[in-house]
Amino acid sequence: MTMTPMPQAMLDGGVANWIRPDCGPPCFDSSRRAWRVSRYQDVVAVLRSPDLLVFDWLANIRRLAAAGEYDADTIFRVTRGWSLFQNAPKHSALRRWLVQALQVIGPGLAPERVRRVVSELMTPVPAGETIDAVSRLCDRVPEALFAEALGVPTSTISIFTAATIELSSLWRNSNSPATLRRIGQLLAAMEAEASGLMAMAHRHADAPLAAVLARTGDSPDLDEADIANGLSFLFVSGIETTASALASSIALCLVDARARACFADLAKPPRGAMEEVLRRVGAIHTLQLRSTVRPIVSAGWSIPAGATVFLEIEQANHDPSAYPDPFRFDPHAARPSPLHFGMGAHACVGAVTARSIIASCLTTLFTEWRLTLAGDALSWEDHPTMRRLQHLPLRAERVHGDSEARTLGQPRGTG
Ligand code: HEM
Repeated sequence: MTMTPMPQAMLDGGVANWIRPDCGPPCFDSSRRAWRVSRYQDVVAVLRSPDLLVFDWLANIRRLAAAGEYDADTIFRVTRGWSLFQNAPKHSALRRWLVQALQVIGPGLAPERVRRVVSELMTPVPAGETIDAVSRLCDRVPEALFAEALGVPTSTISIFTAATIELSSLWRNSNSPATLRRIGQLLAAMEAEASGLMAMAHRHADAPLAAVLARTGDSPDLDEADIANGLSFLFVSGIETTASALASSIALCLVDARARACFADLAKPPRGAMEEVLRRVGAIHTLQLRSTVRPIVSAGWSIPAGATVFLEIEQANHDPSAYPDPFRFDPHAARPSPLHFGMGAHACVGAVTARSIIASCLTTLFTEWRLTLAGDALSWEDHPTMRRLQHLPLRAERVHGDSEARTLGQPRGTG
């Protein structure tokens, strides 16, 4: 994992400098041995194609296991629930269950809960101290909220988050046996936590988690193992993404006054503000790889059958042919739906949840605190799919309704 330091001039220049516009027609990238798709219309055409499958990311492991180089049982067993998300047959049953699960826990993620969690995480900051908003706030908000909404210990969710972050930094399409052994350990730890959660839900029939699991009644073809692994996939897919998007959204609001105004000056952000923030700084820059089962042909290009494809949704979200003046934050412009939550069969099931959590966080932060960037560099992880800030150094002053400001951590009225 490498850090890319960003000089002050880049911060002053705002988010336009975070993303280098580089949209062009689909082309074969020989270094990645895959087709790169980056223009908005092309990404949409590929995602809408019926001739597309999610890339079989276990293929390489299967090959190693078959050659006797690695005992991959744990990986296959634990990722069974995750593999279901890849393609048929159980994909739609798990999706249905997850959508209903999120509806059950929705009230536990309501704006007033988010506001309280943000306040609790922010409030003990001593006066004048610079905080790293990534580790102190953004990484902790989604896990605290999900733990509370499901009635499970935050420490349990943290185990999933830590394992996910390590997994996503380790996982490449061809891993060495040594890396696979570490991946196996992480997955085994997640499996143990997921079965602990299932046991807890069976013991406490009135807990929110039990209500979530009960919704599987609508998807009878899912067995207990599918659900345990699906539950861990919910944390894997929802927590790191929300944490990363939250950090980038705060950073965007700090450098872009128009974005900030949406959350600082209004009790309720304008319609479209959250979508526009995520268009600019969603958590995922490139979707997981896809494979073509038949050629995909569109205006002026074609991708052959059997090809591997990577879809650069962050580039597509800044494609000037879809978003004229793409680096201008404009929540009111009539524009095509951005792609930060994907599109088609695998579109994000947590989009409503994530939007609501992040919007409530931003409103809480920018109405209750005066935030400034501290330090002169932001660092981003060098990651094949995610846009994730490593650090977000901030100073924060509490702002009261009468515009009296006090330094965070001081008792009310002493600032
Ligand atoms: C801002 C935060 C989030 C972003 C930017 C995001 C983005 C995405 C994207 C781009 C995909 C499609 C992946 C692909 O097609 O390869 C996806 C899928 C998914 N997301 Fe999210 N997500 C976020 C939050 C969440 C949350 C909070 C949850 C649930 C708690 C969640 C659950 C899922 C699931 C289960 C899938 C797989 C859907 C499928 O394969 O059918 N996501 N997400």
